Amino acid sequence: MILTPEGNRFAEATEVAVTGGSGFVGSHLVRALHKRGQKVVVVDLSAPRPDILDLPGVRYAKADQRDFGDVLLALQGTDTVFHLAGNASGTVSVERPRFDFEVNAVGTSNVGNASVLLGVRKLVYLSSAIVYGTPQDTPMTEHHPTRPFLPYGASKLSGELALRSLHDTLGLPVIIGRSFVVYGPGEDPRRAGGEVSQFLRWQLNGLPIPLIGDRDRKTRDFIHVSDLCQAMITLAEAGTDGEIYNLGSGHEVSMRELADAVAEATGRPALLEADVNSLEDSFRLVADVSKLRGLGFTPEYDLASGLRDLAAHLGRHPELPSVTAVFRKTPVTGASAAAAHATTAAEVTAC
Ligand SMILES: NC(=O)c1ccc[n+]([C@@H]2O[C@H](COP(=O)([O-])OP(=O)(O)OC[C@H]3O[C@@H](n4cnc5c(N)ncnc54)[C@H](O)[C@@H]3O)[C@@H](O)[C@H]2O)c1
Repeated sequence: MILTPEGNRFAEATEVAVTGGSGFVGSHLVRALHKRGQKVVVVDLSAPRPDILDLPGVRYAKADQRDFGDVLLALQGTDTVFHLAGNASGTVSVERPRFDFEVNAVGTSNVGNASVLLGVRKLVYLSSAIVYGTPQDTPMTEHHPTRPFLPYGASKLSGELALRSLHDTLGLPVIIGRSFVVYGPGEDPRRAGGEVSQFLRWQLNGLPIPLIGDRDRKTRDFIHVSDLCQAMITLAEAGTDGEIYNLGSGHEVSMRELADAVAEATGRPALLEADVNSLEDSFRLVADVSKLRGLGFTPEYDLASGLRDLAAHLGRHPELPSVTAVFRKTPVTGASAAAAHATTAAEVTAC
């Protein structure tokens, strides 16, 4: 797709691959590309959501990205690849670090190597701000040190390094986006996602909002999933190969401010119940987005409009989040590890 020999525009005859196109972010990206008249192949281990397969010009190629042959076959004939497939859960990475590494690091290396062999014209990889680890500076530029503390962060960073090495040695035209906290319709409440949809789900059910961390010292940068997809398309069209771009809103929002915004969006007061015993993730996490903005990208949603949009989508009594967002670093071994595996109550906040 996208970068035709003539310039920065879509080549409509060609097909774009979206790995992870059955997932939360990927299904939004497939819809956004389809809206632009693009033919899309969803490359995923799981089948796409039903409305996706109904879209004309969209097809599904089943592939496990841990299997190089699968990936090679699925990506054949595609011009541009948006690579989103993988494990997106910090908790899963803590509980099954080898699985996480195989899917995210080895899988991403497979996608990169297949793209080289197939002569793909552009590969955009959706990485995560989790690769930075605990923020040392606010806002964070792309030059912030990378010291991930979760296996998930390490596997996402390994994927980045694998792709960049293929860029440096074999000329893979890859661009990396590091997303901050995504929110929007379609997020699975059964895994600890971002605070936005979690807060809204409690609030829309008329219940107090459980908060992990300090309401003022814990801040985040939230980006609406639709803006994230447009940002990825901007990277494909205007980004520089081999470069990394932060994908965020650039706005710092404390948990207290988020609760106030949730109250505003739903028209009734919001009650935050903070667990002050879990303060580990009470840090500021905000993107410096100058590099992305330099490509001409401007987000469509601010937090207020994004919240209104999501509240309308969720309706009056959405499913409650079934896992609490808990930041956990304590290693469990031996018998206690077995017990911990049996009762998976904790979820690590990740982006
Ligand atoms: N959701 C966020 O807040 C967020 C933030 C930053 C980065 N990201 C990144 O964005 C990407 C998508 O995240 P998401 O929230 O949509 O996750 P998701 O779990 O909804 O989607 C991931 C998709 O990958 C597929 N997949 C998993 N293992 C696979 C394998 N071995 N082979 C092929 N497909 C496989 C799954 O079936 C699923 O459809 C991930 O790479 C994640 O690291 C997400």
